[in-house]
Amino acid sequence: MIFVTGGAGFIGANFVLDWLAQSDEPVLNYDKLTYAGNLNNLTSLNHDKRHVFIKGDINDNAQLLALFFEYQPRAILHFAAESHVDRSIHGPAAFVTTNVNGTFNLLEAARSYWMTLEGEAKTDFRFLHVSTDEVYGTLEKDDPAFSETTAYAPNSPYSATKAASDHMVRAYHHTYGLPVLTTNCSNNYGPYHFPEKLIPLIIANARAGKDLPVYGDGLQVRDWLYVKDHCTAIRRVLEAGKPGETYNVGGWNEQTNISVVHTLCDLLDELQPKAQGSYRDQIKHITDRPGHDRRYAIDARKIEKELGWKPQETFSTGLRKTVEWYLANDAWTKQVQSGEYLKWVAMQYEDEDEV
Ligand code: NAD
Ligand code: DAU
Repeated sequence: MIFVTGGAGFIGANFVLDWLAQSDEPVLNYDKLTYAGNLNNLTSLNHDKRHVFIKGDINDNAQLLALFFEYQPRAILHFAAESHVDRSIHGPAAFVTTNVNGTFNLLEAARSYWMTLEGEAKTDFRFLHVSTDEVYGTLEKDDPAFSETTAYAPNSPYSATKAASDHMVRAYHHTYGLPVLTTNCSNNYGPYHFPEKLIPLIIANARAGKDLPVYGDGLQVRDWLYVKDHCTAIRRVLEAGKPGETYNVGGWNEQTNISVVHTLCDLLDELQPKAQGSYRDQIKHITDRPGHDRRYAIDARKIEKELGWKPQETFSTGLRKTVEWYLANDAWTKQVQSGEYLKWVAMQYEDEDEV
């Protein structure tokens, strides 16, 4: 079986659903169920014996060790993290606790377990660490895209903690020989994306008749990848990646934020038109994110050449599927927009004047 951390979050849940749609190999899904973890992402697996869910914190060494020895996973796929840049600006401590200390603790538990394995079980074991392109910092307009050899230069508390975790993962390979793999992916979008992040936030606010908040001039660039393409890349790296290597994952799809917001408004105008006017009328430019990285772009040639992975969705097909998913899954959005979410929205967006 495989052991997945953070499998009730956005990418982790998509990964678990995809995995069990393609394979009968069971999944132990280990998640703390923070505000971002949601078992409603996994309701289709409610009666599926291949999926075992355990609520737990990656900082709990004793629980991790007990589970590793009981279930004997052949791989650990580490998605669990605090993942929202804006939250890391308001409260970095939780990011250090989970992303740095938690990853360290998970590595320690994995190492203790792995050391007891023998023969093929030991050589075939994998620890796959899911990381981000944000560890590379920011690009100027004409800079080449981030490659696996770009120097780390994280700028936010979130990216600094992810960078620290990447370094620990690397060190566990070089020092102890733990067979690790790291993926550094660009911005994901798709079903089950928590509506604190740009794309689901814009869809939810547009439909609720609220402002569509665009930080600063909206000309920051992100490189968007449909979440299921990220899941395919992770499966491919697990299957054929070389231990100790890192793989950049991206969709060759750079977009300015304002262009993403315009495209979302146009899709909603087509699929669920307002009585009057366009959703674009709700756009409001607000104060920029402190330390906002201007541009991310991924050079995905290594994973394409060495592992034969390529994204299947274009931005146009992926974004349409995403908007259609949100239109068909109102109940999901309403459920996640509960107490904790409302507090966050009030703190981050209320009293924001137009800039
Ligand atoms: P998310 O915030 O939606 O989900 C994170 C999950 O981790 C949640 O289910 C949460 O309950 C769980 N979790 C948090 N702290 C935990 C702890 N201490 N112990 C156990 N579980 C804990 O995040 P996501 O967007 O799905 O991102 C998943 C991973 O992918 C993260 O490591 C993130 O850095 C990375 N990543 C995300 C993106 C993106 O665009 N979302 C892009 C590249 C990489
Ligand atoms: O690049 C990969 C990263 O992508 C992941 O590692 C992170 O976990 C993930 O959250 C994401 O980080 P971003 O900060 O790029 O994503 P977010 O959706 O928060 O913002 C996307 C862009 O939109 C960014 O430039 C900030 C801007 N933005 C965001 C919000 C929430 C706005 O203009 N308005 C908003 O209200």
